[in-house]
Amino acid sequence: MTEIRICGGKRLRGEITVSGAKNAVLPELAALVGMKGTGVIYNCPNITDVSVSMEIIRSLGGKAELEDGTVSYDLSGIDSFTIPTDLGCKMRSAITFCGGLLGRFGEVVFSPPGGCVLGERPIDLHLSGFKALGVEVKEENGLIRVKGRLKGNKIRFRYPSVGATQNIIIAACFAKGQTIVENPSLEPETLDLIGFLNTCGGCIALRGGCIYIEGDRELKAKPYCTMADRIEAGTYLFGAAMAGGGKVSLKGINRQGIGAVWDVLEKTGCKISSGRDYITVKSLERLKPVEKTVVKPYPGFPTDLQPQLTAMLALADGKSIVKETVFEGRNRHIGELLKFGADIEENDGFIIRGVKNFTGAHVTAFDLRGGAALCMAALAAEGESHIRDADYIFRGYEKFEEKIKELGGEITILQHL
Ligand code: EPZ
Repeated sequence: MTEIRICGGKRLRGEITVSGAKNAVLPELAALVGMKGTGVIYNCPNITDVSVSMEIIRSLGGKAELEDGTVSYDLSGIDSFTIPTDLGCKMRSAITFCGGLLGRFGEVVFSPPGGCVLGERPIDLHLSGFKALGVEVKEENGLIRVKGRLKGNKIRFRYPSVGATQNIIIAACFAKGQTIVENPSLEPETLDLIGFLNTCGGCIALRGGCIYIEGDRELKAKPYCTMADRIEAGTYLFGAAMAGGGKVSLKGINRQGIGAVWDVLEKTGCKISSGRDYITVKSLERLKPVEKTVVKPYPGFPTDLQPQLTAMLALADGKSIVKETVFEGRNRHIGELLKFGADIEENDGFIIRGVKNFTGAHVTAFDLRGGAALCMAALAAEGESHIRDADYIFRGYEKFEEKIKELGGEITILQHL
């Protein structure tokens, strides 16, 4: 595993470009397996999860290569509907390949994705959605086989699951007749996927908070450019705010889709501005606390920025409360933040009593966003910090080391075999 060394305590200043959105390009790459032809997806981040997605496409007989932010692919050779277990286990979102494979072959076989530190992460909404589209779901020898002819239907999610919504939208493009999804995920990444599918011949519309998908489509590859990563952007905005008194500009993104993040930053007293394709944040020496932030599905405060928010508020001048409501297990970063000197109590949410400063510590990343939060805390801490198991971070942050150096952060990647 990789270890990161950071010498913190300096203000962050400078300008970086936001990469393409991991959580948009992953379902877009997954949807490819239901399509025909060759094409490109622009603005694709060079991160581990994209590499795994391209490996899955190749394992199914397709071709996919990433060069300078552009994925070039050829889908003509796809001849398998079995997602390799070793790849499926590396990345939970491999389940989103099911929709396209069902559309192409009427069948898909995969291994139930493991849970992870965020909690149990069941897939019942994916499976009940497929059943509602008329296909059979069977478990055999530890594998799940989904088989049948897709038929449009009205589906209501008990919870607006991002992955399940995306999987059903993809499958519904190939179903006979119309599908209506009630209580869907409306995350910007889901809308970006819809934009991609419509570009390739899909017929999907949003009306009254529901998603309408016309079936019987044959999707053909067309060039597409993935949206900017609002979670990466929020991570660096919070990192700049925590480092106290700095000024950081992010290029290639604007305030659309990050309203909840924007509101929180303003409440801390940061000066934040944006134009067509940039956001700039100027932070105070000491942040104000934020009384209570409750994580919610979009347009609420995103769970993927909860660890970073918790770390930032741990340095504010007063008490803040953060409540995680999406993943019951998204709290492993708390114990690590305490090692920097944070004062956080877990009691029906995180009760955060801000401290004046952090001191460098040796900590461990337990997941992608928690790991990024620990690095932002290390940049704000006086002295040297080490973050172990940093490979998690490279799953979702492209050019992480370069971007932090660009902002004046002192970071070194220590390889450990
Ligand atoms: C997507 O995960 C993202 N991943 C996650 O980002 C993100 O945190 C999450 O959406 C919520 O926004 C990708 O897009 C690749 P969910 P997903 O299905 O689809 C429960 C990151 O750090 N649930 O919306 O797995 C589930 O247990 C990652 O970039 C069911 O009960 O999220 C959870 O409590 C982490 N049954 C809640 O719904 C199901 O069948 C939200 O999960 C599916 C989910």
